[in-house]
Amino acid sequence: MKRLEGLSALISGGASGVGRATAHRFAQEGAARVTLFDKDASRIADVAAELAGIGTEPRTVVGDVANPPDCQRAVDEATRGDGRLDVLVSNAGADSIHDFLDLELDEWYRIMDINLTASFVLGQAAARAMVAAGNGGTILYTASISGVAASTGDAHYGVSKAGIISLVKTMAIELVGHNITVNCVSPGPLDTPMSLALLGSEEAMQAARESWPIVPMNRLGSPTEIAGTYAYLASADGAYTTGQNIVVDGGMTTNVFPLADELQ
Ligand SMILES: NC(=O)c1ccc[n+]([C@@H]2O[C@H](COP(=O)([O-])OP(=O)(O)OC[C@H]3O[C@@H](n4cnc5c(N)ncnc54)[C@H](O)[C@@H]3O)[C@@H](O)[C@H]2O)c1
Repeated sequence: MKRLEGLSALISGGASGVGRATAHRFAQEGAARVTLFDKDASRIADVAAELAGIGTEPRTVVGDVANPPDCQRAVDEATRGDGRLDVLVSNAGADSIHDFLDLELDEWYRIMDINLTASFVLGQAAARAMVAAGNGGTILYTASISGVAASTGDAHYGVSKAGIISLVKTMAIELVGHNITVNCVSPGPLDTPMSLALLGSEEAMQAARESWPIVPMNRLGSPTEIAGTYAYLASADGAYTTGQNIVVDGGMTTNVFPLADELQ
């Protein structure tokens, strides 16, 4: 049984990593239409071709989530023709590593604009379209475990993701009367180009794939493991879940206290 049969979805950051894996998963689960919103014109075209190959209508919007008119353009394109938008996955994000003492204000604002302000702008535009269509809907965000626990060198990113976790709670309550659910997923470290950029080399990335002891599961997560969580939340199986932050992190934020190991 395909769980997302006939749905229209909009995915920001859909050209790579989590967004691309989610677009594929939604298409495999029967979505009728997936609109990709990303700044990367070349890779967005590649993913659109992949979706068409699975039998889903792809639409593309090349733009910047930090530019509010681009967010509205993305919602307009997703709803063009029949007004239908069932699922938003607001997933595009950016990160950079700076010690707190060296973090520049411009970089703070850059990360807030892409990760947090865009979450409000795109989420509001999508929610307005869902309310106008009158069919309810699902709004999903990619937060991060950096928004749950301290993450050294990442104060700006962590605050932006903690802001999403807060935004989700309020949106869930304000939109519940419109039959719209709102949730976020907080991944741990993933095997995506973003992590490659942060780790700095393919060698470091390969080492993290083979073993990363700070993660109890001792490995990077796959973007498909986040995509599967989104498919569940967007389906009827997730209908009673709203206002939640689902942590998918290989156990990294369990705060395990290894007492037994110490006593041996
Ligand atoms: N990779 C990780 O370890 C990790 C962990 C926790 C959370 N996340 C979050 O997951 C989400 C997806 O990241 P990913 O790992 O798939 O990275 P990725 O680099 O593979 O994909 C990010 C996509 O977002 C797009 N994008 C970035 N800034 C944009 C902008 N201003 N406007 C439009 N598009 C933009 C990029 O072009 C790219 O296609 C992000 O929100 C990220 O913060 C990632």
